Amino acid sequence: MQTWSPRSWRSRPALQQPAYPNVQVFDEAVKELASMPPLVTAGEIDALKTQLADAAEGRRFLLQGGDCAERFSECAPEQITNKLRILLQMSVVLVHGSKRPVIRVGRFAGQYAKPRSEDLETHDGVTLPSYRGDMVNRPEFTPAGRTPDPQLLLRAYGRSALTLNFIRALVKGGFADLHHPEYWDLEWMRHSPLAGEYRKILVAISDSLRFFENVLGIHAEEVHTVDFFTSHEGLHLDYEEAQTKSATPGRYYNLSTHFPWIGVRTAGVDDAHVEYFRGIANPIGVKIGSSTSPATLQRLIETLDPDREPGRLTLIHRFGVDRIEDCLPRLIEAARATGRRVLWCSDPMHGNTRLTADGVKTRSFADILAELERAFDIHAARGSRLGGVHFELTGEDVTECTGGARGLSEADLGRAYKSEVDPRLNYEQALEMALLMARKMSQH
Ligand code: PEP
Ligand code: CO
Repeated sequence: MQTWSPRSWRSRPALQQPAYPNVQVFDEAVKELASMPPLVTAGEIDALKTQLADAAEGRRFLLQGGDCAERFSECAPEQITNKLRILLQMSVVLVHGSKRPVIRVGRFAGQYAKPRSEDLETHDGVTLPSYRGDMVNRPEFTPAGRTPDPQLLLRAYGRSALTLNFIRALVKGGFADLHHPEYWDLEWMRHSPLAGEYRKILVAISDSLRFFENVLGIHAEEVHTVDFFTSHEGLHLDYEEAQTKSATPGRYYNLSTHFPWIGVRTAGVDDAHVEYFRGIANPIGVKIGSSTSPATLQRLIETLDPDREPGRLTLIHRFGVDRIEDCLPRLIEAARATGRRVLWCSDPMHGNTRLTADGVKTRSFADILAELERAFDIHAARGSRLGGVHFELTGEDVTECTGGARGLSEADLGRAYKSEVDPRLNYEQALEMALLMARKMSQH
């Protein structure tokens, strides 16, 4: 294996990188970024890796979720609190369903760069670069809006720090009551034929919390420390490299996040992203899909987990409800044949995206749930284990995905469609998804 350094990716093809018009201005921004203090510590990163190793062994369960793309304009107290609230509430439901501690990982404090299928976009005869996330450019379809701006790298870093600072403060105090279903917004439940079952799960959760608190005198937050970890797609390699620092000689961490992942479009084994990721000490994820062959998966695993390290590698699979049965079994076998223990995580969102007749990107609640349920079954049938889930969701009342208890239809999408990229589950849909997963897991 060739020697690795935080910049050795530069000798490989790097896909999905923006083209900055002024290289000197860009270099200055990256230099400034590299001089900034880290967002997270090596100790926190190692702690997460240990927990992920537990999840791979079936002793914990991973919940990873957040926006497809964070927006600078949504770096605001209410939105951040809502994001944390939904993740916390889902995790409480999943603890109940899985009978295991849940590792909470947000897609936040850095999820500002997006891969795009097309480099360019054309409207009315005008062609401009695609929007690549707030770290790179702006959604406005104007030459100024779409030109990559290096200052946005610094702003993304600043917003990530502000977000994380607020999350750390919320986690430390003032968030504990949210463990209790009594405080949750459950009005939507009465629209579901499964309301009775949902209520039973929530009563069981309340009872066990009350038992711990009243009978044993232990408060929920002491029973299970409310930790949140951060993650984002490690897409913009100059950004990631700038925050890659060695803790001890030769051991490099990406200190901009706990858990970076490689997107499906940049997972080429000989390409720059895999080269960068193979050398950092963080636990890492890699997205795999219907185009990932068993042989490619084996090379990915061997390259990304050369030391066979517990907790190192999470495989986040995203096939689509129609393809998971065809694709997943042979990838499970391929991974097993490498002799490594990986953590399997299902992303039931990205294989189920479709366009409505009006050209609006959406996903149906039923497809998402069905892919997830199949993922549990396929792993179990092969002596493997689904150890985590990955969602695009928000704590807000948006209308981007169809279905769920309120039966959102395509006609509802116009009401509150806010995402510039992929459609997210809203608060109610996300909580309902957790309840249905809990129901599924308690049957396994
Ligand atoms: C994403 O997670 O937002 C994403 C782009 O996913 P994928 O790489 O799986 O398409
Ligand atoms: Co997405």
